[in-house]
Amino acid sequence: MSTSVQFAPDLTICRILNGMWQVSGAHGAIDRHRAVDEMFAYHDAGFTTWDLADHYGPAEDFIGTFRRRFAADREAERLAEIQAFTKWVPHPGRVTRRLVEDAVGISLSRMGVERLDLLQFHWWDYADKAYLDALKHLADLQHEGKIRHLALTNFDTERLGIIADQGIRVVSNQVQCSLIDRRPEARMASFCGDHAMTLLAYGALLGGFLSERYLGRPEPQRAEINTASLRKYKNMIDAWGGWTLFQELLAVLKRIADRHRVSIANVGVRYILDCRAVAGVIVGARLGVAQHVADNSRVFEFALDGDDQAMIEAVLAKSRDLMKLIGDCGDEYR
Ligand SMILES: NC(=O)c1ccc[n+]([C@@H]2O[C@H](COP(=O)([O-])OP(=O)(O)OC[C@H]3O[C@@H](n4cnc5c(N)ncnc54)[C@H](OP(=O)(O)O)[C@@H]3O)[C@@H](O)[C@H]2O)c1
Repeated sequence: MSTSVQFAPDLTICRILNGMWQVSGAHGAIDRHRAVDEMFAYHDAGFTTWDLADHYGPAEDFIGTFRRRFAADREAERLAEIQAFTKWVPHPGRVTRRLVEDAVGISLSRMGVERLDLLQFHWWDYADKAYLDALKHLADLQHEGKIRHLALTNFDTERLGIIADQGIRVVSNQVQCSLIDRRPEARMASFCGDHAMTLLAYGALLGGFLSERYLGRPEPQRAEINTASLRKYKNMIDAWGGWTLFQELLAVLKRIADRHRVSIANVGVRYILDCRAVAGVIVGARLGVAQHVADNSRVFEFALDGDDQAMIEAVLAKSRDLMKLIGDCGDEYR
């Protein structure tokens, strides 16, 4: 499998994106200098695409510092090798052109760019239709050259339809998608196929639960669940089918991983990359704390076959239906 994909006609990305929620402070302390040093290691290994947000602590500033150092240490022309996708997550309420312009202006300045590669927009309350005003203002800023491509995060399929009907062009929607959360397959993937949109998937590694580290381990107690990401996905595991069934899944993934001489995490990411409409998987990076660059590179070096899929399917068939339990993608936020 190729490591990169043509995400938009003028934008190629690595199919594994580096997720920067992990530098927000909710996943342990991050040393700024070590974190930015580490960004070079990711970049040099081919992981050139970053996913961040206005509210992920210093993430946008890290991009700014990384770009400045990159331009100084290497050549400024090579800055085009870096893709940085941010988000705008406004508080509920009226959305004016001024509000949108100011938010985009702050991201541009923190990230040290003249144009955002991708602006992913989140909205908390569908009852408040001001999300359409926000998107129209963002589309105007795009036409003025401040945003290269417009995208969404955590929108459901119904709202994707409403937005498309307004003539607003978005290239992707970022949603939770993992072996235990295949809700995008139910409705969203086919909508994306029909509307030239793709999905960026997060949560594929369940914050780290989907790895050898938790194989054969008793259910972790609250004190052990020490990152915001692990807390989020422990709730998902409980909703999906619980710890005992999750152990069954890990055991099957380990057998598959051993067959291919890769890791459980590799199988989990590869499975999602093979899903319909998925352009990329965002894997969280605790920069300067823990690093899995070499292991994650192996995702591109093997393929899951029909036997692997059948073994996985046999476990997943025992789980609860999250579409019924939670609703479409993003409904967990509403
Ligand atoms: N739009 C949204 O609402 C939203 C929500 C959540 C996340 N996101 C995005 O998605 C990104 C991913 O975050 P996530 O919370 O979903 O976490 P995740 O990617 O499921 O898990 C990340 C963790 O997995 C572990 N890991 C990574 N590679 C591994 C490997 N090869 N082997 C074993 N363990 C490995 C690391 O744990 P250790 O550090 O402990 O080693 C890492 O911190 C975020 O940074 C953010 O960009 C977006």
